[in-house]
Amino acid sequence: MLSRRSFLTNVAAAALLPSALETTSITGSNSLKAHAERRGLLAGTAVDVHILNTNAAYRNLLAEQYDIVVAENQMKWKALRPAADKFDFTAADQLVAFARENHMQVRGHNLAWHQSIPDWLTSSITKDNARQFLTDHILTVGRRYAGKIHSWDVVNEAVQPKDNRPDGLRNSLWMQMLGPEYLDIAFRTARQADPHARLTYNDYGVEYDGKEDTDRRTAVLALLRRLQAAKVPLDAVGIQSHINARPKNPIGKGLADFLAEIRRMGLEIYITELDVSDDDIEGGIEERDQAIAAAYRNYLDLVLQEPAVKAVLTWGSDDNHTWLNDVPTHKKKQPNRAARPLPFDTNYQPKPAFFAMREDFDHVPRRKATKTAH
Ligand code: G3I
Repeated sequence: MLSRRSFLTNVAAAALLPSALETTSITGSNSLKAHAERRGLLAGTAVDVHILNTNAAYRNLLAEQYDIVVAENQMKWKALRPAADKFDFTAADQLVAFARENHMQVRGHNLAWHQSIPDWLTSSITKDNARQFLTDHILTVGRRYAGKIHSWDVVNEAVQPKDNRPDGLRNSLWMQMLGPEYLDIAFRTARQADPHARLTYNDYGVEYDGKEDTDRRTAVLALLRRLQAAKVPLDAVGIQSHINARPKNPIGKGLADFLAEIRRMGLEIYITELDVSDDDIEGGIEERDQAIAAAYRNYLDLVLQEPAVKAVLTWGSDDNHTWLNDVPTHKKKQPNRAARPLPFDTNYQPKPAFFAMREDFDHVPRRKATKTAH
C-alpha cells in the first residue's frame, strides 16, 4: 500500500510524463503547425503534386504537419502553359483541392519569373505582345484561384546586381520586353485578378552579411520603395532562405535590419523556401543532421524575432525530394551522396531539424497572425 507521500510523489512524476511524450510525439498538438499557430505563425512546405497523387505517407505527413502549402513547380508558367492557346490546371487544381480538404492555406508560385518560361513564349514574345502575354496569364490564373490563395509570388527573383543595371534589377526576358514596368503591370494585374491574395515579391540571396547579399538587399529595398511610391499594390516580401550549414559569411545584423525595414514599409514577410545545404559538412549522417538542425535553429532564432514574419515554409518536407540534389555544385562537391536539407528523412521520420524548428516556434514572440484566404 503506497503512503500518501509516495502516492503524491508518483503523481508529480507522472505529471512530467507529457513533457517527455511531447518531445517524441509529433502529431496533433505536437505537430509543427500546432506549435507555429501558438505563435501566430503558419508552417508550410513546397509540394510536388506528382508525389502527392501517388504516395499516401507523403499526403499524411503534409496533412499532419502543415497548414500552408505551395506548388514546387505546378503553378509555374511551364507547367500551366503547354501551348500559347492552352492552359493545363490539372496539377494545380489537385494541390488546391488537397489544401482545402485539409484546411490548409495555399501560396501561389509564381506569376512572373526569368525561369520556367515555355519555349513557345520565348520564341513568340515581342515588345509589342509581351504585355498581353503577361496580363492574360495573370488574369486567367489569378481569377481561377481567386479567394483560394493566401499569397501570390507575383514576381520572383527580379533582382540581379551582377547584370549591372543602375537599379540592380535582373535583365530578364520580361525586363527586355517591357522594361522595369513589367513589375508594376504584374502586381496591378494580380490585384485585379484576385483582390484577396497577399501580393508578394519573392527573392533569394538576402540572408548573409556578405557584400553580395548586402548588394541584393539594397536592390530589393530600392525596388520595394519604387513600387510603393508608384502606388503599386504590394502586401508582402518572400525571403526564400536557401541557406548553408557552413556559410562563408554569418547571418546577423544585415538580415535583421532588412526585415525591420520591410516591416516599417507596412509589409508582411514570409520565409518561403527554407532549406539547408549540407554539401560542406563531411562526416556521417548524425553529424550532418546536427549541423543542419543548428543552421535551422540559428536562422529561425533570428528571423522569428521579427514580428512581421508570419509564415515559415521549407522547400520540401522530406529528404526523398529536394532540388538541391540537382544543383551542379552539389553534384561536384558531393557526387556520391544525397542532400539532407529538410525536417523529415527519407522514411518521413522527424530529424533533429524538425525538433529545432518546433522548439524555435516555442521560443519566439507571439505575433498577429496573417489574414487567411478561407
Ligand atoms: O516536368 C519536366 C519533365 O517532363 C522532364 O522530363 C524533366 C527532365 O527535363 O524536367 C521536368 O521539369 C523539371 C521541373 O523542375 C519539374 O521537375 C525542370 O527540368 C527543372 O528545371 C525544374 O526544377 C525546378 C526549378 O525551380 C526550376 O523551375 C525545381 O524542381 C524547383 O525546386 C526549383 O524551385 C525554385 C523556386 O521555384 C524559386 N526559388 C528557387 C528554387 C530552387 O531553384
